[in-house]
Amino acid sequence: MSVYLDHAATTPMVDAAIVAMTKQLGKLGNPSSLHTPGRSARKDIEQAREVLARVVDCAPSEIIFTASGTEANNTALKGLFWKSRAEGKNVVVISAVEHHAIIDPAAWLGEHEGAEVIEIQVNKNGVIDLKQLGDLIKTRGDEIAFISIMHANNETGVIQPIAQVTALAREGSIPVHCDAVQSFGKVSLSFAGLGLSALTLSAHKIGGPLGIGVLVFQRGVEIPALLHGGGQEREIRSGTLNAPAIVAFAAAAQQAIPSSQIASLRDLLIAGIKQAIPDAYINGEGEKLPGIVNATFPGTESDTLLLLLDAQGIAASTGSACSAGVQRPSHVLLAMGHSDKSARSSLRFSLGTQTTREEIEETLNVLPQVIERARAANLR
Ligand SMILES: Cc1ncc(COP(=O)(O)O)c(C=O)c1O
Repeated sequence: MSVYLDHAATTPMVDAAIVAMTKQLGKLGNPSSLHTPGRSARKDIEQAREVLARVVDCAPSEIIFTASGTEANNTALKGLFWKSRAEGKNVVVISAVEHHAIIDPAAWLGEHEGAEVIEIQVNKNGVIDLKQLGDLIKTRGDEIAFISIMHANNETGVIQPIAQVTALAREGSIPVHCDAVQSFGKVSLSFAGLGLSALTLSAHKIGGPLGIGVLVFQRGVEIPALLHGGGQEREIRSGTLNAPAIVAFAAAAQQAIPSSQIASLRDLLIAGIKQAIPDAYINGEGEKLPGIVNATFPGTESDTLLLLLDAQGIAASTGSACSAGVQRPSHVLLAMGHSDKSARSSLRFSLGTQTTREEIEETLNVLPQVIERARAANLR
């Protein structure tokens, strides 16, 4: 039996997205062209834009299509920074547990553009320290270019109190960007309701295709572009729009609804892990995504666990796919208080809409022998 428990890395496309994409692939027309085929492609894109705007509760004109969540994050961070720097602000505030698609552009701004990057720390459950943020806004609010805090963490599934972040930021009129790549379609999310300035989404985490993302960016505010060219997408993101991927993203978004079935399978997995491996530790208690379980198995190496599970047909992950394969302990688990050693003994299992009870049972079946063998290998 083959079991895929890496849906947070990427999840299969849903049928509706495949149908929409396939149909669009057969259609001719550059959406920027004025002739009939061009206008037809433009109409399909604008319909998709309206669907996505409805799902995420923003205006259609606030949707900017990009080629990935990574690009949307880079566009938001660099654009917001360059705009604010012109107003004399150079402090960039992120959390200690962001995805590398936030940490790395923020570090780049620090190294190349004169930004001072300040990280908000998290508690042992991975939740940001609102007091640190509040104090920072009180003392240095007028220097802050923007705040970027993720909605849900990709390694642990822990959800951050974004409404409280925007409430604090409002006092200093500071723009807030939120990376919602993992939470979009899994828990409720409202751009307008949260009072955000910018929000990142990505299609391939919800059953849409790879290589299409969205930056939701507040109306009436313009930022410098990363890509210059044809002036598409409010001149923030030039480039011919990828109509097949865009219509497929909208089709997937329309179907993505919070699932209690995934949450109950997650709870079954957590209970089974605790029972089978009594010294295992689940990372991040509290409000979490329905589909992510991050567990530490003392005395093991996560790379060994991954390979042993793979040999049994089970695909899991050491955490962020982008840093998997590189022998580094997870910065997310370190920020939550893990030692290098315990962070290196941790695995992420992530569930999707196709995950079945049988798959969870099969995983729990093989886990004890896998842990035993990984511990023996570690002692050698
Ligand atoms: C929280 C988070 N942000 C950003 C990204 C990057 O998105 P994309 O794969 O579309 O570039 C990921 C992907 O794993 C993610 O989990």
